[in-house]
Amino acid sequence: MPELVFFFSLAPAILALILLLKLFKRKKKSYNLPPGNMGWPYLGETLGYLKPYCAITTGDFMEQHISRYGKIYKSNLFGYPTIVSVDPELNRYVLQNEGRLFECSYPSSLGGILGKWSMLVLVGDMHKNMRMISVNFMSSARLRTHLIQDVETQALLVLKSWQVDKKILAQDEAKKFTFNLIVKNIMSMEPGTPESEKLRREYITFMKGIISAPLNLPGTAYRRALKSRSNILQLIEHNMNERLQKTNGDGKKVEDDDLLGWVLKHSNLTTEQILDLILSMLFAGHETSSVSISLAIYLLQGCLKAVEELREEHIRIAKAKEQAGQRSGLNWEDYKHMEFTQCVINETLRLGNVVRFLHRKTLKDVQYKGYDIPCGWKVLPVFAAVHLDPLNFDQPHAFNPWRWQNGKTSTTTNNFMPFGGGLRLCAGSELAKLEMAIFIHHLVLNYDWDIAEPDQPFAYPFVEFPKGLPIKVYDHQCLT
Ligand code: HEM
Ligand SMILES: *[C@@H]1O[C@H](CO)[C@@H](O)[C@H](O)[C@H]1NC(C)=O
Ligand SMILES: *[C@@H]1O[C@H](CO)[C@@H](O)[C@H](O)[C@H]1NC(C)=O
Repeated sequence: MPELVFFFSLAPAILALILLLKLFKRKKKSYNLPPGNMGWPYLGETLGYLKPYCAITTGDFMEQHISRYGKIYKSNLFGYPTIVSVDPELNRYVLQNEGRLFECSYPSSLGGILGKWSMLVLVGDMHKNMRMISVNFMSSARLRTHLIQDVETQALLVLKSWQVDKKILAQDEAKKFTFNLIVKNIMSMEPGTPESEKLRREYITFMKGIISAPLNLPGTAYRRALKSRSNILQLIEHNMNERLQKTNGDGKKVEDDDLLGWVLKHSNLTTEQILDLILSMLFAGHETSSVSISLAIYLLQGCLKAVEELREEHIRIAKAKEQAGQRSGLNWEDYKHMEFTQCVINETLRLGNVVRFLHRKTLKDVQYKGYDIPCGWKVLPVFAAVHLDPLNFDQPHAFNPWRWQNGKTSTTTNNFMPFGGGLRLCAGSELAKLEMAIFIHHLVLNYDWDIAEPDQPFAYPFVEFPKGLPIKVYDHQCLT
């Protein structure tokens, strides 16, 4: 009976295998996961999570989940088992361990639209490489010498076009401002030219696709957005080739005073990589800051005391320039004097939460506060709910810029991360604040405003005013 002998000789091995499998199974079962609800198969709780709600609130879904499960809970979102974190320490831990324990992991639909070389989806060395380029481009030196003048020119261009006593869609105007600024700095396109208007129209379609569900079927917003993506890339490539031809012709070097020129001259990126970089800068660089400006207009309208204080600050700056005989525009010194304005900016970002949460995944099993987060799970650090937690901010739903003045506590600053953090901290945070401050400067010096039609910001989760924030403005003569 050779089979029997064979069996007995193998028995120990088989037994060991069974034991091992059992152990493995038990180990798998012994994950101490946070409480939560995995919802329906595949869909999980995604629909509830994405249900639009007023952007200056935490939202019903989040509120109910936090009160039921606590600040760290499990769920099933965007097709993956997920840990949602409203715990500021865990959020910081996640961002500070990028590349070691956690990694950026946006839904693949975003990669499909922004491109596989987009900075928002790249990881590792390639991300570092691209990031360095954009950080260089928005360095504080460039902000001081180049960008501040452009920001003021573009802000004035938009604000001076406003007609008193007519309905104005503040959100569209803010978009015009930040879009014009970014295309000028990326590709030296002047606002109002046919080329830049075409780009703006394509971009609007493109943006709708990013918000929509990622169904690549005829007639869907996603499909239209993919088409827009390729039109936009064509436009950028055309601009790029024109520039290369011009410079090859007369033997001069490529100009490097915009991002496209800089990349062509100083980097070894391929055409495909350059196009995705430019597109993702266009996306990251104007959608967020224009919404922040709309939010400031909206929140300030409900707080006249803050408008008064802003006005005092900006009149002081403008008068000092006048007395010093400075006819030129705002400079860095002036910007540094916009102190209360910085409080208004922080308070706007805290309440409005333009970027509400980030997408990450674990690279290893991670233990945190007694919980296990298994390898491969997604982790969503949610800033919005941290910024609106009464334990972190007193009366969190009140617009109170003064909370950022002297005597602000470490709880205030430690729990505030509107621009993310770690290796992927927003590359444009300084530019975004500069845009907001300079726009506010000329806004309060020139106009009073009120809301023409009730509107409020919604989180889709991209924050937007559904009606475009209709306002009416009136002349305000501060300087005589
Ligand atoms: C108030 C306005 C803005 C907010 C709230 C904001 C917020 C953020 C956040 C939270 C991230 C991190 C994403 C992540 O870690 O997954 C980020 C990344 C980024 N932002 Fe911003 N942003 C703003 C304005 C801007 C502007 C004006 C620019 C550029 C002109 C810009 C360029 C970028 C870039 C390039 C990244 C990717 C950085 C990297 O992956 O290393 N942002 N932003
Ligand atoms: C491009 O340059 C970076 C350093 O600037 C280098 O790390 C990278 O390997 C280079 N890539 C290629 C494809 O040569
Ligand atoms: C605003 O928040 C930033 C953190 O993003 C902090 O460093 C800064 O001190 C705050 N500004 C004011 C005026 O509180």
